[in-house]
Amino acid sequence: MLILGIETSCDDTSAAIVENGNTIISNIVSSQNDIHEKYGGIVPELASRSHIEMIWPVVDEAISAANVSLEDISAIAFSHGPGLIGSLLVGTCFSKSISFVKDIPLVAVNHLEGHIFSIFLEASPDFPFLALVVSGGHTSIYLVTEFGCYEEMARTRDDAAGEAYDKVAKFLGFAYPGGPIIDKLAQQGNPGIVKFPRARIKASHDFSFSGLKTAVLNYVRKNPEAKKEDIAASFQEAVVDVLVDRLFDISRERNIPRIIIAGGVSANSALRDKASKRARSEGSDIYLSSISLCTDNAAMIAAAGYYYFSRGKTAHYSLNPTSHLPLGSTNR
Ligand code: KG4
Ligand code: ZN
Repeated sequence: MLILGIETSCDDTSAAIVENGNTIISNIVSSQNDIHEKYGGIVPELASRSHIEMIWPVVDEAISAANVSLEDISAIAFSHGPGLIGSLLVGTCFSKSISFVKDIPLVAVNHLEGHIFSIFLEASPDFPFLALVVSGGHTSIYLVTEFGCYEEMARTRDDAAGEAYDKVAKFLGFAYPGGPIIDKLAQQGNPGIVKFPRARIKASHDFSFSGLKTAVLNYVRKNPEAKKEDIAASFQEAVVDVLVDRLFDISRERNIPRIIIAGGVSANSALRDKASKRARSEGSDIYLSSISLCTDNAAMIAAAGYYYFSRGKTAHYSLNPTSHLPLGSTNR
């Protein structure tokens, strides 16, 4: 069964054809980085305009690359939240139109659930597991007892980890998205040069990254001659320490030795390395996607769409996108 996935929640226009929920036939991602990089962050108005221009060519490319036609598609799965409302509207309206004209069922997918499903395109972890979803908009740890059953164990109280990466990169004079740039720079720096704060919230596993961001800003202002490589490495170590420590604290407390890490920041080399080493030393299983499936893509949306479509959970044309959509609250 072929599912057409459509993802436009933020700044990537993506379409994919996935077979039986786990085999990627095509996965086209058109990045808007060149549009937003000079602003140091995403400009929502420009993002939605670009989605409007790109959605049809990207879907067309996904269909031709898969060597199929719309008649072969069993369902269209699209992200309906969370994300930027203008961006979500483009994917939602486009999906509804194709569904209506071609009489193809629609499936609404929560973007965060898509990130979790990205792991299932390459592996099959047993339930229950812990999922760290860490991206530009979210940083949460969920206990996943089965698909659709998510209990939030920890969340950020302020910035998402990816947002902190992007803001620190901006202070240091780098373009958006800053995560991959800081990651590369940090590999040439000394993480022991500055001990940036690792925030801990009393009686909670929640995260806070805004104090860290301010500490980096203050350090850069007071030490203009400091090497950017060392600042990047010291900042990155503070983020990764906190993410990995919280994840494994919860894993031990709950006795859940299976962990997945998904979302754009899961592409980070230091996070992948530290989490994999910790899993080995604690005897846990860890699942990380290939780098191309960590950041936003439509294959993960199609994978989640397959799961819900095969259980008869289709969406109605009255469904509208929502910028705030907690995991598990998708209205089917
Ligand atoms: O999942 P994603 O593509 O979009 C959202 O749902 O937010 O994540 C994008 C975020 C950006 O903040 C970007 O800087 C960050 O993921 N990112 C990284 C790396 N690659 C992408 N952060 C750290 N290291 C990376 N290698
Ligand atoms: Zn995402």
